[in-house]
Amino acid sequence: MEEQLLKLFRERPERDWSGEDLSRLLHCSRTAVWKHIQSLKTRGFEFESAPRRGYRLVREPDSLDAALLASRLSTKRFGRRLNVLDTVDSTQSIAQQWIADGAEEGALVLAEEQTGGRGRRGRPWHSPPGKGVWMSLVLQPQIPLQFTPQLTLLTAVAVCRAIGKLTQLPIGIKWPNDLLIHGKKVCGILLESKAEDERLVHVIAGIGISANLALEDFPETLRDIATSLMIESGRRVDRHELIAEVLSQLEQLYDLYLSQGFEPIRLLWEALNVTVGRHLLIQDGSESIQAVATGIDKQGALEVRTPDGRTRKIYSGELEMA
Ligand code: BTN
Repeated sequence: MEEQLLKLFRERPERDWSGEDLSRLLHCSRTAVWKHIQSLKTRGFEFESAPRRGYRLVREPDSLDAALLASRLSTKRFGRRLNVLDTVDSTQSIAQQWIADGAEEGALVLAEEQTGGRGRRGRPWHSPPGKGVWMSLVLQPQIPLQFTPQLTLLTAVAVCRAIGKLTQLPIGIKWPNDLLIHGKKVCGILLESKAEDERLVHVIAGIGISANLALEDFPETLRDIATSLMIESGRRVDRHELIAEVLSQLEQLYDLYLSQGFEPIRLLWEALNVTVGRHLLIQDGSESIQAVATGIDKQGALEVRTPDGRTRKIYSGELEMA
């Protein structure tokens, strides 16, 4: 009901909606409408209201709101089950519990703050309250296990397109899935999966976007290597709009991938990548490799040329760009 109310207010922002109109359109009593408006007010929505004119929504809250987000979604499956939590250890762990309880593909958990945010290679992920997008999406693709890295690249492409579309910032992908603006990381992606008998059972796509963090919100150790959309654009981003756009891009690319395979995603990835053509120092376990990136292969592995002219494939590792 609140989701529908918010949709109406958003579709016609200049219009005053009378209690009578709203109750007719939403098939409920005027008292029910009034109660929902009061509930929205307590969550930070502000309305202008005049006795005979009705209500007009004049301010949406900065904090994440499940009904507001739902009213913005254009997806069919992704985010249709969604929960916004306040402080959690990691949204990845919550999604894992959901799966154990039978959650379906597209279930989405978001948190305002993570106290144990997880990054790749066991690193912590800095997730302060109220300023970022910390979310985990449940996927259950019917694909062979060895294709899992393709989903990592797909997720990076989707988030990159969403951020580029909303902010027009020059964002690119560093293999496999770090999103960089002016050489600094603005988003990290962590895919955790479960396999049985060589088949993928589920994937949890964890996405962390430093949306509205100011420089002082980052610990000193990160200030040279990380940035936020707000720092780069000089404007706060509407996190609801950003999440809705990320989910929309993700669902479109995921459906494209399931129907046409990895090739269209690979082409999109290559168009957005900032790795190919660069001199790299690759740290793969104890091995340190110097090479130039030449592309990605059909599996999503990075292809590089080493100084002796040989071609190698990199399946995992840390890249430093020279
Ligand atoms: C990286 O190391 O670049 C990956 C960072 C992934 C962070 C996100 S935030 C939401 C989700 N929950 C986590 O604990 N991690 C991922």
